[in-house]
Parts: sequence; structure tokens; C-alpha cells
Amino acid sequence: MVEPLHDRFGATISGIDLRTVTEGHLYPEIRAAFEEHSLLLFRDQQLDNASHTHLASLFGPLENREQIAGNDEPFSVSTVSNVTDDGSLLTTDALTLIDLTANMLWHTDSTFLPVPALVNLLAAAVVPSSGGQTEFCTTRAAFGDLAPGRQAEVRRLFAVHQLTHSREQIDSRLTELDYVSRWPDRAWRTVWRNPTNGREAIYIASHAYTIEGMDRAAGEQFVGELLEHCTQPAYRYSHEWTVGDVIIWDERAVLHRGRPWPYDEPRTLNSICCSVTELDGLASVRPPTGP
Ligand code: OGA
Ligand code: MN
Repeated sequence: MVEPLHDRFGATISGIDLRTVTEGHLYPEIRAAFEEHSLLLFRDQQLDNASHTHLASLFGPLENREQIAGNDEPFSVSTVSNVTDDGSLLTTDALTLIDLTANMLWHTDSTFLPVPALVNLLAAAVVPSSGGQTEFCTTRAAFGDLAPGRQAEVRRLFAVHQLTHSREQIDSRLTELDYVSRWPDRAWRTVWRNPTNGREAIYIASHAYTIEGMDRAAGEQFVGELLEHCTQPAYRYSHEWTVGDVIIWDERAVLHRGRPWPYDEPRTLNSICCSVTELDGLASVRPPTGP
């Protein structure tokens, strides 16, 4: 059963055990709902790492976060978590916890990479007693509500993204970390047209710091105005996590951010992102000169 989650986007899908999904069984319906609703919530799931990875692999090439960070490691499911490998909690002065708080700026994932993310499949493993929500905004509805002249303007512009930009808003020490500073500028069109249904969405992130062809200050202001427009309460869904929840969202049409929680409590979300492919409209967001 598919029920609306928010009046502008999103759907709750019930009656499916995500462990049973294969390319031929249920994936076509899930993929169609993903293209249509931009965000899908499944409750009471029991994904282990293997079934989570299998489900994600149906959407596209898996992002290897360790390799992205510069470590030559095989793929593993990554966690958004304040729990360390030895089970202790990160303290609030730990740079890794400070880095986690950069997730609390509105963003879409991996816009600083040579190929950005299509989707994130986030599964709640441990949730705190309060806080720690993840919030999502529909940039498709936000685009649709712009005046036609503004739509035409946004359609032809390219934002310049760099990971250091989002990190320096949090703590300048983060920009010195190799896995942050290793990525050069990437430019992406500020509108992403979904090739399966033609629906357009604003494509922007906290990693974007200017607009190609504008001076830095004007570009930064333009990016700020777009983010502000997209993240108005009317476009926003705030998810209060329960263990077993899985949210799958379209990075091309949704902005997201995490919210703080009491850091003396553990919170662990398991996350897998897949990269976009040409079938998802990649060529249409590349600048003519190439990033
Ligand atoms: C992510 C993310 C925010 C959160 O998984 O990409 O930004 O709620 N998560 O922790
Ligand atoms: Mn994210």
C-alpha cells in the first residue's frame, strides 16, 4: 500500500519486506514510486548489511565511502553514528563528531564528487530518546512554485560545489582533513530534470559556494536565496526515527539535513548511497565545458 507522507512529496509504503526485493520482484514498483514521490518510507524493516547492500545495488553503482575518503578498502555499509568501533561514544570535542554536525546543513549527498549520488538508503539501527530527526525538503515543489522567469534563470545556471565550503561553515579545522580537501570544484546545473517524467527540481547543496559566471559574493547570495526558498516549512518533512525505519530518497529532488540529539546517547543510521548514471540525467546537469 502506498500512502502520501506529506502534501507535496513522499510516500509511506507498507506490506513489503525489503529483504525480498529483487530486480524482477518489487524493484520496478519501488523504482517507479521513487521517481514519482522522491522519498519513500518503509517501516518495521529488518535489513542486515547484505540485504541493505543488495537493495541499494538495484538503484545503481554503490558509493564506496572508504575509497572516497582515500582509503583502499572494499565496500562496506557506512554508518552515520556517534558510536566508535570500540563501542564508546564520540565526545563533543572529537573532530569526527564535529564533522557529523556538518550533516546538519541542508545538502544533497556527494555533489562534490566527480559523479554525485542518485539515492541514499538510510536505515535506523539505534535511535536516541529525543532529537536526531532527519529532515527533507522537496526541491521539485520548490521549483514548481517559482515564477516562470525565475525558473528559466535557474534552469540555465551552474552552481560550483566543494566539500570544504560546507565544512568551513562548521569548523575551519575540518577543511584541513585530507578527505575533505582532496576534492576540487564541481559545477552542476541548478535544475535537475528527471528523465523518466520530465519533472524539474532545484539542485543545490551546502557544498555550493557560488554560481559560474557571477562574482563570488553575488553567487553566494544567489545560492543562499535558493536554499532559503527550498527549505521553507511548506516543503519540509521531518522524520522522527524508529528502529526499523528505512528511508530511500531521490538526491536529485530532495534536500536533507540531520538534527542534533543528546550526544551522550548513541544514534546509528546505516547508509548506502548509489551514484547517478547517464540514465538518471547526468549529462543534462554537467556544464558544457565539463566539470
Ligand atoms: C546522510 C545524512 C543526516 C542525519 O545520511 O547522508 O546526511 O540525519 N544524514 O544524520
Ligand atoms: Mn547526507
